[in-house]
Amino acid sequence: MIPLSVPQIGGNEWKYVKDCLDTGWISSVGSYVSQFEQMVADFAGCRYGVACMNGTAGLHIAQILSDIQPGDHVIVPNITFIATLNAITYTGAEPILIDADPNNWQMDLDILEDFLDKNTYLVESGIGDRVSINYHSILTHRPIKAIMPVHVLGNVGDMDRLMSIATKYHLTIIEDSTESLGSYYKGKHTGSFGQFGVFSFNGNKIISTGGGGVIVTDDEDLARKAKHLTTQAKASSIEYIHDEIGYNYRLVNILAAVGVAQMEQFPQFLENKHRMDKFYRTELEGVGDIAFQKVRPDVDPNCWLFTFKTARMRDLLDYLNKKEIFSRPFWMPMNQLRMFKKLLYVNKEDHSTKLYESCISIPSSVGITLEQQETVVKEIKHFFGS
Ligand SMILES: Cc1ncc(COP(=O)(O)O)c(C=O)c1O
Repeated sequence: MIPLSVPQIGGNEWKYVKDCLDTGWISSVGSYVSQFEQMVADFAGCRYGVACMNGTAGLHIAQILSDIQPGDHVIVPNITFIATLNAITYTGAEPILIDADPNNWQMDLDILEDFLDKNTYLVESGIGDRVSINYHSILTHRPIKAIMPVHVLGNVGDMDRLMSIATKYHLTIIEDSTESLGSYYKGKHTGSFGQFGVFSFNGNKIISTGGGGVIVTDDEDLARKAKHLTTQAKASSIEYIHDEIGYNYRLVNILAAVGVAQMEQFPQFLENKHRMDKFYRTELEGVGDIAFQKVRPDVDPNCWLFTFKTARMRDLLDYLNKKEIFSRPFWMPMNQLRMFKKLLYVNKEDHSTKLYESCISIPSSVGITLEQQETVVKEIKHFFGS
């Protein structure tokens, strides 16, 4: 079996985990946690990192600290993993879904801008210097507070344009950068554009801690609050005094130890991914009706999970999995999931459905060998008869 995307454990993981076990520092306090969160923040070019038990928890905290209240709206792409929307709904806010750009498969910014332009109105509220300015939805009369771009598959959209839309419409940017550690737009790392960025380190990501996440931000106060909220909002180091409702979301030291070892190897992992991507693109170009995800020239993606389009996706999926080449379809668009069917889905041609019906992800582990890649390519060519 050639797996889809499995972790590569080849560095100091055993040594650092043993260190935790030997010293008894296995839980949520320990030096690996702070070391890991700082390593991730440094890599992403952000000042602060706050380690969480997973990316979803990090996204939830980022929502809370962006003042997302019950009834507010947060804008998200319709093509994403469900965790993006879950994190919003935990706060009681309601997502607004934007269709995908058929070229780069990120949120379609033409549709986003057109929606904000034609379907919202400006409201100033509050008293004294606590005035808030928000655009409200014409449909629901509720404030639209934030945009959560998702760097789908480690690719990146037009961040300059997104940031200027956010400024114009008074929207906070919370980046779901969970898939994009190692991805850059004009030399700037993902996660460093918004008020917050959140990375995930679950089993299929480019580095893994088994489960884990890191929130990054440049704002010292927000970083302090994020750490506070992820550690049960404990207000005293000795006494059990808590000053708000907090969460038990902190990453544990054992897993952070794995993360430190993974970060040490990350530059090599990134190189492997680029090599893998180049091989697939070269070998699969012109095979059958295969079409690749478009990457802007000013984007340097991390090439996380190799995914392409073909009208014969379902048959190819069956074929490859029967050959023990583990392959997966794309996410079902969020507007098609039972819980989200009633959400506002802004689209013109519903490219989300087209992507869902045609995209297939193929084996892309950091440690995939050339021989394994050759097998994958050979079978895909055989399937298409080329
Ligand atoms: C786009 C996206 N958002 C959020 C998450 C959630 O991350 P985690 O699995 O660490 O909770 C993931 C990864 O699973 C993801 O791919």
